[in-house]
Amino acid sequence: MSFTVAIDGPAAAGKGTISKAVAAHFGFAHLDTGLLYRAVGAKVLAGAEPIAAARALDPVDLESDDLRTPAVAQAASEVAVNAGVRAELIEFQRKFSMRPEGAVLDGRDIGTVICPDADVKLFVTASAECRAERRFKELNGKGHDVPYEQVLADVKARDARDSGRATAPLIAAYDAVTIDTSDMTIDAAVSAAIGAVERAKNAIG
Ligand code: DC
Repeated sequence: MSFTVAIDGPAAAGKGTISKAVAAHFGFAHLDTGLLYRAVGAKVLAGAEPIAAARALDPVDLESDDLRTPAVAQAASEVAVNAGVRAELIEFQRKFSMRPEGAVLDGRDIGTVICPDADVKLFVTASAECRAERRFKELNGKGHDVPYEQVLADVKARDARDSGRATAPLIAAYDAVTIDTSDMTIDAAVSAAIGAVERAKNAIG
């Protein structure tokens, strides 16, 4: 029987780290759904038509290291507004959520649109300033020389676009457990997430 964990939240709130840790702890498969939109965004930057790029997406496309650049992040957020692009990506995500060993999917609309019946839903968030600070350190650590103000402006622009779009906007599902990581260590945030999943598993029996 499958067990699905839906993890949503804004950019750089800690979703990725928490999702990987939850998946490793329980032996579940993990899908970072942001990579789907990033891969489509990268193809559009290279001249492709958005819906055709989403339809032709191959799992191998998700492995490119170039998907983590700020330019691709913005392009991803832009193609994600397109309802046709989103529709093309639904089936792949739903299939993944049924993986027999259990699945963790993280993104923006997993608990609301992709897996509304997920066994447990987490909404991982943090203040825009905290998230920009983390992203700034991560980017500069990887050699991308971007000023903090630019990173903060990008985070806020993506928040506004992701939350304000008509189709599948970023919003906590009514039944999600919210984890605000602003003043939490990574270890504490991971423990809180694992605890919430453990409780949901025990409730099912
Ligand atoms: O999680 P991320 O930063 O890699 O996501 C990149 C963009 O993709 C994000 O700004 C919005 C979009 N996205 C989405 O609309 N729905 C998802 N489930 C995941 C990402």
